[in-house]
Amino acid sequence: MASDNTSRGFTSNVGAILAAAGGAVGLGNIWRFPYMLGQNGGGAFLLVYILFVLLIGIPLMMTEFIIGRRSQRNVVGAYRSLSGGRKGWVLLGVFGILAAFLIYAFYSVVAGWTLNYIVMAFSGKLAGLEPAAVADTFSTFTQGSFWPLFYQLLFLVLTGLVITMGVQKGIEKVGKILMPILFLLLILMCVRSLTLSGSSEGMRFLFKPDFSKLTGQSVLSALGQSFFSLSIGMGAMVTYGSYIRKEDRLFKTSIWIALCDLLVAILAGVVIFPAVFAFGMNPASGPELVYVVLPNVFNNMPAGTLFAVIFFLLLGIAALTSTISLLEIIVAFAVEELHWKRSTASAVSTLLVFAVGAFCTLSFGPLKNVTLLNRTIFDLFDLITASYLMPIGALLMTIFLGWCFPKVEVKDELSNGGTLKCKAFELYYIILRYIAPAALVVIIISGIVG
Ligand code: PFF
Repeated sequence: MASDNTSRGFTSNVGAILAAAGGAVGLGNIWRFPYMLGQNGGGAFLLVYILFVLLIGIPLMMTEFIIGRRSQRNVVGAYRSLSGGRKGWVLLGVFGILAAFLIYAFYSVVAGWTLNYIVMAFSGKLAGLEPAAVADTFSTFTQGSFWPLFYQLLFLVLTGLVITMGVQKGIEKVGKILMPILFLLLILMCVRSLTLSGSSEGMRFLFKPDFSKLTGQSVLSALGQSFFSLSIGMGAMVTYGSYIRKEDRLFKTSIWIALCDLLVAILAGVVIFPAVFAFGMNPASGPELVYVVLPNVFNNMPAGTLFAVIFFLLLGIAALTSTISLLEIIVAFAVEELHWKRSTASAVSTLLVFAVGAFCTLSFGPLKNVTLLNRTIFDLFDLITASYLMPIGALLMTIFLGWCFPKVEVKDELSNGGTLKCKAFELYYIILRYIAPAALVVIIISGIVG
């Protein structure tokens, strides 16, 4: 049974911010964002991305928090309780669980890679390799079966153990310890990168917008990336919202989390692009940017092995705090709705995710030729979740809270029962009802039309 919020929720506002920022900050910031920016022309992409985070990302995060905290429940229970049990809305919660499951299945593949790269960097196996050998190392590893599956499972088990420890002793504690470490390591990496000679070209690429490079498709990618990065649209923030204390300010909390997320993405760019340009590598190399291009960069810089270890460690930390939030969506549902024990829910979900996620891992090797619409299983999972399920989930959520739920109750939750002024409430409500749904319809349709 779900217990009351005093025993099940976060103990402080800082704890809530760090735990939720941990859920948001992840591979999306340090692996996905830089390669998308690299492929979409640099500075202009960054600018559009920042706009989307501020204008749509923050209000949608607030929306998820309102739904979670108002209902005090997991994503399925939240829609059930706030809609008065209407089946259609309960299904939206189930849809969130499904999306979390699919994201977790492919996300854990890349999370597992980080473990392998921490080990390789630590043991010096990447040091001194020629560029061709670095690329070879990556493809040999990812195209294999045993090791990528092993590291994926290891990552899943690690996440499962944290979740088993509970919201306060697991999620909140890990966020409080790991997030400051992540920032520290990231700043260290920035200093290293910026002190390389020839780094300024990378900074220009990142910060100097060239709008001629911006296409309709890259604007949409920026919007999709902002959803993925802020973990919006499938119930992660609904679940965490249900753990936020009634006296905390949802407005302020959302802004802090979104700014942390944005800062980490920008700092990751500051780590990666100056170094990539300083050593004449290709910024538009795609998903391999971090695993193939960066090891070459490390090999060329003084104390490269040390910085390689630091970088992959930081990637692993970012991934872990996000996988924790993904698993918690599923486990909170199993505990509160199905009345399972937390440890059982965590173990069963971990095994199920591995059973499906293994196909994503193997789609780089033995199952490489199993494709649909020219995409491998891994790519399909990524596409379906980031381009369809998350935006569709977010759209339905805005319709629910903006059109099917009383405005006074929304205001009541956001203003902590009327005790806060909430000057920006009307603006928020306009974004919730009109602007966010319109933007979402545009991305969903353009995703379908191609
Ligand atoms: N926001 C995470 C990242 O940027 O890596 C990915 C993610 C985590 C998406 C949790 C969705 C989610 F529920």
